[in-house]
Amino acid sequence: MATEINVPYPGAWRAVIAGTGSYAPSKTLTNEDFTRIVDTSDEWITTRTGIKVRHIAGDNETTAMLAAEAARIALADAEMEPTEIDLIIVATITPEMVFPSTACFVQHMLGAHNAWAFDLCAACSGFVYGLATAREFIVSGRYKTALIIGAETLSKITDYEDRNSCVLFGDGAGAVVVRGSKQGPLGIVYSSSSSDGGGWTSLNCQAYGSRHPASRPLDDPKKIFMTIKGREVYQLAVRRIVEMVYECLDRCRLSIDDINVFIPHQMNARIIESVAKRIKLNPESVFINIDRYGNTSAASIPIALDECRRQGKIKSGDVVLIVAFGAGLTWGANVIQF
Ligand code: ACO
Repeated sequence: MATEINVPYPGAWRAVIAGTGSYAPSKTLTNEDFTRIVDTSDEWITTRTGIKVRHIAGDNETTAMLAAEAARIALADAEMEPTEIDLIIVATITPEMVFPSTACFVQHMLGAHNAWAFDLCAACSGFVYGLATAREFIVSGRYKTALIIGAETLSKITDYEDRNSCVLFGDGAGAVVVRGSKQGPLGIVYSSSSSDGGGWTSLNCQAYGSRHPASRPLDDPKKIFMTIKGREVYQLAVRRIVEMVYECLDRCRLSIDDINVFIPHQMNARIIESVAKRIKLNPESVFINIDRYGNTSAASIPIALDECRRQGKIKSGDVVLIVAFGAGLTWGANVIQF
């Protein structure tokens, strides 16, 4: 059956994916390593989360460094020079510093002198928000080329004394080059984006913003780390992701069988399996790599997207649905034709 999606009018700009790249630090932490750090087991972590190993940045490795590496690979894939980029968006919750933005550091590292650059803070939904933002600039004809990067060094805000959270997270970066085109694949055809600031207590890292500045002693030293209400987030994530999938299918006039590849935020393999079952998605269409990365927040989807493409799982003309849920609370999705 022919896929029926919102086709732009003839001559309209499309925001197509021109290249992808990803990068992760060489150092790793296995489940076995965690049994020497906290009271846990490989069996608990594997059955509850699907995670086996995560990459961890070295002391001198920063978010901008990981982001720039992923970006270089994406640019090479797109056969483009850094000077051809008009816009750089870096989605991250572990920025290089309070300011300037990580995106400005990346622009300088790449030598992308013609780009303007800014950060986007939406936790695990950062990359899908970034694609939605870039799409608007491209389809309006304002810019030709955007580089969207999700990059994190979550290990730097992880409490390695808290077994409830420390086993979940890893570091890495993924990047996508989006280019304006008037022909070929339809590119990013639909974006769904939502927020609920009332849910901030479910997932957060409270130091060192204006509420708990670095210049004053913290009432609780643990505020420098991420805290999560895991079970609460689990249930909300499943609900919101299922809702978004149905919204995307409805707005693009697609059926679930038209989705060739489903790339969800790699938060927990059980969440992904539960969603796939509820939406009756063929398990072979679901891409999971959480076993080798853990949850890398904003980097999770672009790393998965890059791996999926490089493994030949996305073919020309395929419809890919990416969905994320994260702190804010935030959630978002993009329907992309390759
Ligand atoms: N090893 C062994 N036992 C553990 C561990 C561990 N690492 N962690 C927790 N437990 C224990 C708990 O203490 C609890 O024990 P108790 O019953 O004696 O109190 C028991 O395991 C079960 O705990 P639950 O919270 O009910 O376990 P659940 O099945 O919900 O799994 C998990 C927990 C993996 C955190 C899951 O809820 C989840 O993935 N939630 C979403 C994670 C999330 O929020 N991700 C977003 C993070 S924010 C960001 O990405 C920036």
